[in-house]
Amino acid sequence: MTHAHFLARRKRLLKAIGNGVAVIPTAPEVVRNRDAHYPYRFDSYFWYLTGFPEPEAVVVLVGAQPGKKAKSILFCRDKHAEREIWDGYRYGPKAAKTAFGFDAAYSIEAFDKILPELLVDRDSLWHSIGHDAGWDARISQALNAVRAQTRAGKRAPRAIHDLRAELDAMRLIKDGAELDLMQQAADIASAGHARAMRACRPGMAEYELEAELTYAFRKRGADAHAYTPIVAGGANACVLHYVENDKLLNDHSLVLIDAGCEVRGYAADITRTFPVNGRFTPAQKDVYEIVLAAQDAAFAATAPGQHFMAGHDAAVRVLTQGLIDLKLLSGNLDNLIEKSDFRRFYMHRTGHWLGLDVHDAGEYKTGDAWAVLQPGMTLTVEPGLYIRPGADIPPELAGIGIRIEDDVRVTASGCDVYTSAPKTVAEIEEVMRHD
Ligand code: GLY
Ligand code: MN
Ligand code: MN
Repeated sequence: MTHAHFLARRKRLLKAIGNGVAVIPTAPEVVRNRDAHYPYRFDSYFWYLTGFPEPEAVVVLVGAQPGKKAKSILFCRDKHAEREIWDGYRYGPKAAKTAFGFDAAYSIEAFDKILPELLVDRDSLWHSIGHDAGWDARISQALNAVRAQTRAGKRAPRAIHDLRAELDAMRLIKDGAELDLMQQAADIASAGHARAMRACRPGMAEYELEAELTYAFRKRGADAHAYTPIVAGGANACVLHYVENDKLLNDHSLVLIDAGCEVRGYAADITRTFPVNGRFTPAQKDVYEIVLAAQDAAFAATAPGQHFMAGHDAAVRVLTQGLIDLKLLSGNLDNLIEKSDFRRFYMHRTGHWLGLDVHDAGEYKTGDAWAVLQPGMTLTVEPGLYIRPGADIPPELAGIGIRIEDDVRVTASGCDVYTSAPKTVAEIEEVMRHD
């Protein structure tokens, strides 16, 4: 991704805000304990518009008005000889302006003084209202600083808009450079899942498989896990957000891994479920084939012009029929779907937008109408079945939890599944054969 991409996005947003002013800060550094910080992760909106990696930075977009061209202005940390010895290189405003193609750049120290000047006689101010109380207060302060000059004939913006509505709509459709990065993340994540399958042996701990994924991600240059990985042996897979990853993996049970990496901000999100010893039992295979068929049905329903829930509805139909075949549900297929009886075994949706955030920005529904798929949208397709042990559950099915998750982009004619970890029963058993 080049600076031209970020520039083009700023230009588009500048068009949308008229003569208004948009303020987009990056994320703060976060303390983990005492003086140790969590690894730094920039704000996704800020990154989308700038590609600037440092904390303590804000981009301000000032819309065009008669006689004045639109401007993008960066506020960032100053150069600091001593801090750079301890913490590393800082661009400083001067170098950042050139390197990232801003019209102007200033010290972050000057932000509270300069923002009111930029707001004078502008119609609107755009920011993420309510996202951060500190920022809401800072912006109110800047507005009040302009209002204090009313008698000098200066006018403060009358309208405050939530910037996210504009940005979310832009982020929903990925450009070619974004799709390339998402493909890179997907390739690395797919290789990580294959590596975990090859390494898996009965008696290992879940965290040992987590270590295989982390190794594969970092070895191939991914920046980090895109979210906390789930490595869930046996019935732990029925706990949807299981992240302890500290139990032993038993022979004859399955393990579910939901893990993906991040490459230059873009996430992959993959789930695979496979037998700890490399061979599916007949019951495990029966459930697995149902989930796999549900995913295929969802892929077929993921195409331009279809609505967001079409994939989910298709998956639910196959899963519910599967639950009837397994004798876990009985009755008429349409009635069972209508009454949502499948929800005991399938309680989440079949996908979500994917991008800079693993659950990416973008609306799903406007009023009663689901979003309509368009080329360039990226989403996950992740059906599952979770059979928690219970008095009415046959022992061979009790504790089986299976999810299969891949990432797709909507194309002109359908969808392209661009994650590639081993998936069919035959592929998994082949990659796990240790001879
Ligand atoms: N890994 C988060 C999800 O699948 O939605
Ligand atoms: Mn997902
Ligand atoms: Mn996932």
